[in-house]
Amino acid sequence: MKIIKLAGLVDIHVHFRDPGQTFKEDFHTGSVSALAGGITTVFDMPNNLIPVFKKSVLFDKFKIAGKKAVCDWGLYFGSVGDNTHEFEKVAGYVVGLKVYLSLTTGKYVVADEEKIKAIMAAWPKNKNIVFHAEGDRVDLIIKLTEKFKNKVHVTHINTRESLEKIIYAKKNKLPVTCDVTPHHLFLDNTSVKGSDRPPIETVLNFVKPPLATKRDRDFLWENLSWIDCLVSDHAPHTLAEKKSVNPPPGVPGLETMLPLMLTAVNDGRLSLKDLIRLTSVNPRKIFGLSKDDSSYVEVDTDDKYRIDNSSLLTKCGWTPFHGWEVMGRIKKVVIRNMAVFENGRILARKGSGKNVSVIT
Ligand code: DOR
Ligand code: ZN
Repeated sequence: MKIIKLAGLVDIHVHFRDPGQTFKEDFHTGSVSALAGGITTVFDMPNNLIPVFKKSVLFDKFKIAGKKAVCDWGLYFGSVGDNTHEFEKVAGYVVGLKVYLSLTTGKYVVADEEKIKAIMAAWPKNKNIVFHAEGDRVDLIIKLTEKFKNKVHVTHINTRESLEKIIYAKKNKLPVTCDVTPHHLFLDNTSVKGSDRPPIETVLNFVKPPLATKRDRDFLWENLSWIDCLVSDHAPHTLAEKKSVNPPPGVPGLETMLPLMLTAVNDGRLSLKDLIRLTSVNPRKIFGLSKDDSSYVEVDTDDKYRIDNSSLLTKCGWTPFHGWEVMGRIKKVVIRNMAVFENGRILARKGSGKNVSVIT
């Protein structure tokens, strides 16, 4: 047994499906899953069934999160370009704006460059816009950031080419940051669990942006120093949905992120310092959250075990990493000096999670 203490993880990209699709997850089960994964703060995305494109929808969601969350949380506002008049009313209450430039769950894509420009012009320059951008959309965003000077964060980078573009923008001192998910680091489009099955990515591992090649993933690992944050993109869907003829994209990830990354630390793929930079220091810095020594995680870095669907607390009850051997178990989670998770048990009261959005 070797217990170490880490800063509580801040995951700036989750989908709790609440309201609208609480059969997949809700603010209680999602935040329970976060605690089980050593994550003390989550930022929830706006692509609900009724998207968070209006102030009234946002405020309804605040109430839900406030009643149910057991970890700290913040919410994003969303836009497809026709609600810029709402920005002024909501920007002070949210962690940032999320804009989809490529297709994914909810189909809230902004394709028209003029609309993207209108969004960037209207959103406050001191608040982040998180873009889902793939391929040539990354070029477009970099070009527009040069002009509009927004704080831009490109989420879930999946390819070498995308990261190279971000590196170029960073070298040119543009206000661009980025993140990567564990699934894009650990899985690729050649991962097949057994020859009798169809390629696994077409079944459970179907995600947006898609899993890329081994070459891409190697590049992401080799260039972690250019990547600012690690996010789960926790995207719960039921197993029945994932196995259907039209599976939705996304995989759950809150409970597997830290064990997978601790295993990578144990394997010498990154340092513990890097892990803390990606999961706490940078997310806090980018989103303006102050350092919080009263929220932390204790992990046993010597504990070797297999990830198992049956021990997950997420409502969807599965992970693409089922059966993987990992090293590092989350033993205890403390938020603001209160033990909220210990030895597999949730101790936090429903609604004890705090809204951490910097109200400006
Ligand atoms: O795979 C994904 N699923 N990617 C996204 O960007 C959205 C997410 C979801 O909401 O299901
Ligand atoms: Zn997402």
